[in-house]
Amino acid sequence: MTPVEVISRSAEETQRLGRLLGEQAWVGEVILLVGELGAGKTCLVQGMAQGLGVNEVVLSPSFVLLRQYSGRLPMYHMDLYRMERLNEVADLGLDDYIYGDGLSLVEWAERGTGLFPSQHLLIELEYLSETERRLRFHPSGGNYREAVEKLRVAVGKA
Ligand SMILES: Nc1ncnc2c1ncn2[C@@H]1O[C@H](COP(=O)(O)OP(=O)(O)O)[C@@H](O)[C@H]1O
Ligand SMILES: [Mg+2]
Repeated sequence: MTPVEVISRSAEETQRLGRLLGEQAWVGEVILLVGELGAGKTCLVQGMAQGLGVNEVVLSPSFVLLRQYSGRLPMYHMDLYRMERLNEVADLGLDDYIYGDGLSLVEWAERGTGLFPSQHLLIELEYLSETERRLRFHPSGGNYREAVEKLRVAVGKA
């Protein structure tokens, strides 16, 4: 499947994409987020939280590594930015969350390459200009393909 590509022209638009994903999230879903600082990873996660019905304010977990929220499903928001070595990531014991009862979202997922399930949704975010970002959705596995298909239809890219 060729990745679905969307150009977002505002933070609100990125949140709207996140909301669509949050609305259809399932138990055990894993979303890996890759992109430089300011690319919009946390912004997208804030939209997912809305779609999940989380009422709390979603903050970047850069300093705490993991923040947990409750919505229709638990939402585990992780950030590996401060991790320098794969061993450090492995030692965090993220499996309890990743293979747990909710939706797992991992910023800077490339710092944990190989530690995540082979079935997942990888989202690459790229800074284009002050207000524009390119998002590429790469699904691996059945449910994820379906989820991205729905997103493709919802944003009128069918
Ligand atoms: N189209 C867009 N999509 C997402 N964020 C945008 C967009 N345009 C501007 N922004 C701004 O870029 C910043 C993205 O920050 P953030 O989501 O924290 O990035 P990251 O988590 O990838 O470091 C926010 O201040 C947001 O308002
Ligand atoms: Mg962030």
